[in-house]
Amino acid sequence: MIRPAELIQRKRDGGELEAGELAELVLGYTRGEVPDYQLAAFLMAVHFRGLSEAETFALTDAMVRSGETIDFAAELGRRVVDKHSTGGVGDKTTLAVGPIVAACGVPFGKMSGRGLGHTGGTLDKLESIPGFRVELSTEQFVAQVRELGLAIVGQTADLVPADKKLYALRDVTATVDNTSLIAASIMSKKIASGANAIVLDVKVGDGAFMKTLADARVLGEAMRALGGRAGRDVVCVLTDMDQPLGCAVGNALEVREAVSTLVGEGPPDLAELVFDAAAHLLALSDLGLDRVEARRRAERLVDDGPAAAAYRRWVRAQGGDPDEEALPKAPVIHEVFAPDDGHVGRLAALPVGLAALHLGAGRRSKDDLVDHAVGVVCKRKRGDRVARGEALAEIHARDEETAREACETVLAAYELVDEPPPQQPIVLDTLA
Ligand code: URA
Repeated sequence: MIRPAELIQRKRDGGELEAGELAELVLGYTRGEVPDYQLAAFLMAVHFRGLSEAETFALTDAMVRSGETIDFAAELGRRVVDKHSTGGVGDKTTLAVGPIVAACGVPFGKMSGRGLGHTGGTLDKLESIPGFRVELSTEQFVAQVRELGLAIVGQTADLVPADKKLYALRDVTATVDNTSLIAASIMSKKIASGANAIVLDVKVGDGAFMKTLADARVLGEAMRALGGRAGRDVVCVLTDMDQPLGCAVGNALEVREAVSTLVGEGPPDLAELVFDAAAHLLALSDLGLDRVEARRRAERLVDDGPAAAAYRRWVRAQGGDPDEEALPKAPVIHEVFAPDDGHVGRLAALPVGLAALHLGAGRRSKDDLVDHAVGVVCKRKRGDRVARGEALAEIHARDEETAREACETVLAAYELVDEPPPQQPIVLDTLA
């Protein structure tokens, strides 16, 4: 039997733990045999001292073993692909990538999360579709990926229970923002949920966990190493989150924008990221395509209609109504007007995310109900020209008061300048 206090002390003093010791600590904690206060002290020691690559893998492996796992290759006899984003503002990429990849004939199976703070979550966006069920059993999830080629569901209670407990503890002990702990948390869920190839979208900027490209690269490399050790192919794209992705921020608004992207009418930055991620996934699949051909195929399936048809089939399969008219609409819409002529020099993602959160698009506490109709539509983005009095953004609100507050926050997120700023690509770097 391990003595948790000895392990805490060794990590506190900069020492290294054996894989077996880490496993006993984490699995003991998940079973309720090691108390919160000892894990909290351990997490803080990790926060200051870090984990080696071997320790990070041992932690991830123990977390995977804390619950059930899916083996898609054995279940389907095919390679299944998955994508994950570290969280941003207006990130509806998955809603478009899943149907495109499925339309190409590659099985896509993903377990998603809910919004966290100012960042949106795929499950909340999906639940804005009337009737859509995100709670499928593991058997239903696997069967839908087998039969339809596409399923996006909530994480089942039995998958990586260690992460649920550890994440909740990290959240209240100021130990979330440690690269090894984030990498282990994300990759344990990706490995346990069974995909063979994964595209990880690491967001960088004021609206993301990772504020600098250098930090994002360290996280991306750590996650790639974990995936590699677990026999998964992982590509990491590092993408711009200094402004919201696309225009819409808020659940039903984002679903509409994803649907537009599936018929070739999405905002350019979102469309670029969607095709980039889809091309990586198709190139990692068992179709035997290179990335150039994969991208061409993805673009053709959007232009010709099969991607939108795959979306409709998938939404119906999970009980939802795919008709855009069925999505909820907010009763109050206000515009945010430009105070001057100029170019948008900056559109900060964080305040836009916070404005959407305060409108009711996210949760301020765990039990808050989400209002799926509300949010922000950024009609002008970085580099766009605007004349005084033209609309910069639209606020979709449940009442006048929250609309007015959001107008102020969103106006402050815009910085107008005389000259257009240098253009920045959406994909800043790729780790492959
Ligand atoms: N997302 C996760 O799933 N885990 C983290 O630790 C951070 C972001």
